[in-house]
Amino acid sequence: MAKFVLMSGSVRRDSHNTAVLDTVRRLVAERPADDGAPHEVVSLSVAEFPLYDWDLEQGAGSADVARAQELVAGADALIISTPAYNGEMSGALKNALDWLSRPGGASPLTGRTVALASASPGARGAIDAQPALAGVLRRCGAEVVDHEPVAIGKAGELARTADGFTDPTVVAALSGLVDATFLALRSLVAAGA
Ligand SMILES: Cc1cc2nc3c(=O)[nH]c(=O)nc-3n(C[C@H](O)[C@H](O)[C@H](O)COP(=O)(O)O)c2cc1C
Repeated sequence: MAKFVLMSGSVRRDSHNTAVLDTVRRLVAERPADDGAPHEVVSLSVAEFPLYDWDLEQGAGSADVARAQELVAGADALIISTPAYNGEMSGALKNALDWLSRPGGASPLTGRTVALASASPGARGAIDAQPALAGVLRRCGAEVVDHEPVAIGKAGELARTADGFTDPTVVAALSGLVDATFLALRSLVAAGA
């Protein structure tokens, strides 16, 4: 059994990126666990994070942030899907990652396996947001899953249900990403990490 945290860069009600992660949730559930127990998949909303504030961090702190940090620290892998806002990841996602980069030297992202996807109504599927996102994660010590970029373009035109996308091309691309994530986790186990 593996534990996954899914984080969408969008808080929009009908978000394409949240739909990407709904698809991922479905695909993870279809993959058998080595111990037979169902995989654990939890969604973490970027809306749970207050605006990053050093005074808040050093003072009263935030129970929501503490819960999120604990969730990510306890996960085997984090899977993120982001829109591009002016060519970058959403500000809300960057804010969440800034909190998750804390405390300095003990970030729950350090050593964490992280897989990336993106989606947008435009043809490029928000692919432009991925390099900087990967850069931030690597800077925090995360292990970004080695996979060709999965960027879901023209997302508003693709078949989808309440359980995510059903479009075969999208399902195939996300299946590849999910399989690469499981492979990365198995490699860590094999390496004794
Ligand atoms: C401020 C702003 C900037 C945007 N910039 C881009 C962009 O650079 N590239 C792009 O593909 N879409 C851009 N969009 C459109 C978003 O991709 C679109 O709103 C998308 O649906 C958001 O993701 P979601 O469906 O997960 O909420 C932008 C939207 C807003 C509001």
